[in-house]
Amino acid sequence: MIIQPPTSNHSESSLPELSALVKMATQLFRELPISPAAISSPTLTSASVPTTLPGTPTLQPLPQSLPHQGLAHSHESVTSAHKNDDALDRLADHALANRLDSHSFYLPGQQALEKLVKELVSTSVSHPLSAGDTSLSVHPQILGYAAKNISGAGFDIHAVRRDFSILAERINGKLLAWLDNVATTQKPQAVIDRLSYFYEHENSNIHRAAHTLAARSTDAYESARQKIAHFIGAGSSDEIVFVRGATEGINLIAQAFGQAFIRQGDEIIVSHLEHHANIVPWQQVAAVKAASLKVIPVDDHGQILLDEFKKLINSKTRIVAISQVSNALGTVVPVAEVIQIAHAAGVRVLVDGAQAVSHMPINVQAMDADFYVFSGHKVFGPTGIGAVYGKLDLLNQLPPWQGGGNMIVDVTFERTIYHNAPARFEAGTGNIADAVGLGAAIDYLQHLGMSSIASYEHSLLEYGTHQLHSVPGLRLIGTAADKAGVLSFVIDGLAPEDIGKALNEEGIAVRSGHHCAQPILRRFGLEATVRPSLAFYNTCDEIDRLVDVLRHLSRRRY
Ligand SMILES: Cc1ncc(COP(=O)(O)O)c(C=O)c1O
Repeated sequence: MIIQPPTSNHSESSLPELSALVKMATQLFRELPISPAAISSPTLTSASVPTTLPGTPTLQPLPQSLPHQGLAHSHESVTSAHKNDDALDRLADHALANRLDSHSFYLPGQQALEKLVKELVSTSVSHPLSAGDTSLSVHPQILGYAAKNISGAGFDIHAVRRDFSILAERINGKLLAWLDNVATTQKPQAVIDRLSYFYEHENSNIHRAAHTLAARSTDAYESARQKIAHFIGAGSSDEIVFVRGATEGINLIAQAFGQAFIRQGDEIIVSHLEHHANIVPWQQVAAVKAASLKVIPVDDHGQILLDEFKKLINSKTRIVAISQVSNALGTVVPVAEVIQIAHAAGVRVLVDGAQAVSHMPINVQAMDADFYVFSGHKVFGPTGIGAVYGKLDLLNQLPPWQGGGNMIVDVTFERTIYHNAPARFEAGTGNIADAVGLGAAIDYLQHLGMSSIASYEHSLLEYGTHQLHSVPGLRLIGTAADKAGVLSFVIDGLAPEDIGKALNEEGIAVRSGHHCAQPILRRFGLEATVRPSLAFYNTCDEIDRLVDVLRHLSRRRY
């Protein structure tokens, strides 16, 4: 087998780069499930591998770990082409011998690929750069990154991307780079198929019917509820109420809890980081009940000040409503600590998990949240569906917030007897199909594994942060020690909206604006930022494309 090394437009173009090798090998294995014959065909030419490898001109310290695609941009060179050919031959043989599974979520040939890279690490590879030069050795650390990170995701990023057909869209002639995941996430085929299947084979209103389709749709809907309960670590599916999304969930709790427990003069605590969805409903309750809103301040990195929080809590405090992850800055809030402090004072806590559920494993019982809300569309499920978790005894103490069918045990003109949770809060016909679709999204995520997702995204975030620092005049907004998937920034002298438009010209979708979080942006003296946000299907290549455009825009100013 002959594999042509890709050409590069770098000055060392005669030397095949490690990154190119890794890309080749990855590409090779990407081809495997589709056509194992490709491996044994006499030639696999550079036409099947990327030929240009954008890179930074100087080797900079790399973040601790990089998702494997980012390796395409390391600037060191591997110089033993023959050794590489041999190694790839062995790799191919190994892969064929192992009959790789095309439908695995794990990297096809992952073990073989790891083996190859480990072999390369242990092989001394050096080559004269040019006459008279001392030899340029591959830095073992670089190869170490390769060895570690090819398998670092715990899933095959290419296979995963193929599950999201929208990621193959072209925008302005360029491949879509979807970096607007905080606003909404894309849907895997499994979710789209599940929705179609529901309408093709199961569609009916749920409960109270003797016919088969009612049984099917009820089973599908209630099984989605169970999946959600399991996904966020609830004790029972009765603790899961279907709603339209996080906004509706917070409104439900604000109104129901407000009606039951908030009195004149009481206090409600939110943090400075909140999305408008976790501010306005509480303001409305406070206005009706003549209560007041207190705000936990943040430091200059965007981290909440726990000591200040402790000072805010007093005998008038009724509830704390706080995001687990800030949508504007990406700060991960230590919600378990917040809850512990609140509970010590007998105060209930609602956690807004809208930006957390897609990034990390969640366990509402471990964090001891009283209420937890999230939206389906931000967790790779459909729009118009979301969930509220509440501790069962607490939910059953709350009055229903809407009345109608489904939520009653018995109705006369004199009185109504309500169901317990969750039916108590689900008046009328819910969004049945999308609840089922959300269940499919959760199945998909659990197949990938939330811990794998979290660690892959963390690597992407580190890589993105590192790369953005190289853009002249760029200032990251939100530099908390613990962050998830958000890279909010401004560039001196450039309007966020114009940056967003310039990125869109290149097929890169980011949000620019106030992100429905005006208080926190104003805390940093801003009305708007540009906000790329990450999901597990994003790659270092996409980050490089983003940074290339930003460098270009910034160069025009400096
Ligand atoms: C932290 C946070 N909370 C709540 C919401 C509201 O979510 P939805 O519009 O899906 O109801 C968002 C949306 O971006 C958010 O980021």
